Amino acid sequence: MKAPPRLRSLVEEGLIDVVVRQLMSGKEATVYVVRCGDETRCAKVYKEATDRSFRQAVDYTENRKVKNTRQARAMAKGTRFGRQAQEAAWQSAEVDALHRLAAAGVRVPKPFNFHDGVLLMELVVDAEGAAAPRLNDVDFTAEEAHAHHATLIGEVVRMLCAGVIHGDLSEFNILLAAEGPVIIDLPQAVDAAGNNHAQRMLLRDVGALREFFGRFDPDLLATEFGAEIWALYTRGVLQPATPLTGRFEHADGPVDVAGVLRVVGDARDEEAARLLRMRSGAT
Ligand SMILES: Nc1ncnc2c1ncn2[C@@H]1O[C@H](COP(=O)(O)OP(=O)(O)OP(=O)(O)O)[C@@H](O)[C@H]1O
Ligand SMILES: [Mg+2]
Repeated sequence: MKAPPRLRSLVEEGLIDVVVRQLMSGKEATVYVVRCGDETRCAKVYKEATDRSFRQAVDYTENRKVKNTRQARAMAKGTRFGRQAQEAAWQSAEVDALHRLAAAGVRVPKPFNFHDGVLLMELVVDAEGAAAPRLNDVDFTAEEAHAHHATLIGEVVRMLCAGVIHGDLSEFNILLAAEGPVIIDLPQAVDAAGNNHAQRMLLRDVGALREFFGRFDPDLLATEFGAEIWALYTRGVLQPATPLTGRFEHADGPVDVAGVLRVVGDARDEEAARLLRMRSGAT
């Protein structure tokens, strides 16, 4: 196909030889299959903020590092320069997370290049070499569901040990490659150590895995890997090889008022983000 405008500079730079076809157009990006030399890769083209659902709600961007204070002040004020800086920070967050996770041994697409708001990465493929399906497009036996769930819990732990929480993990953001599940779509990834919402995000990510695989293996529905993982993490003893049981003893201690207030505040922030999303016309 003729290279779409957003990919032309990459073709001119020699980063892409041929644009083969559009693979998907999601809420935040359009993804293309491209050829680079004799390799097939994929190019994720981020949409401009105005065309995009407002996923970078307060909780995702909290504590995100910006390089200089002028940029930080502009982002806080919401000036045009500030919005551009925020946009650039959002887009480069995914390539940063991919490098960090690949280094930690998490199975994510290998990133090759990030140029002009386009991420060039490995095309994740199935056994036939075609673009891999999302988990949502596949049916599993109870045994398969149990095994993939265990693999992915291991990946979540490895990510957390590397200081990263996905923040939008679900059957739509995990591909089933020939050799197993591959986690994708990380622009909203959260820094586990510096974010007040980290616990809630981790529990939501792990809960999404439980609900999805629990449809095929109902035994999983009673597990509490999220709470178990978070408790080990906050005690500083979580490691990729730490054995997990899926069970968790909830303490019946005195009520944690500050904690309850934080949950209330989180629900309010989430509702505000939802309203903003609806106003920007996204689903
Ligand atoms: N590295 C990859 N290899 C193969 N397919 C990919 C890859 N990255 C993305 N895709 C395909 O493109 C789709 C959209 O990618 P991604 O989830 O990163 O973007 P998005 O805009 O957030 O999409 P959505 O709004 O649907 O979540 C994925 O569901 C997947 O089918
Ligand atoms: Mg996605």
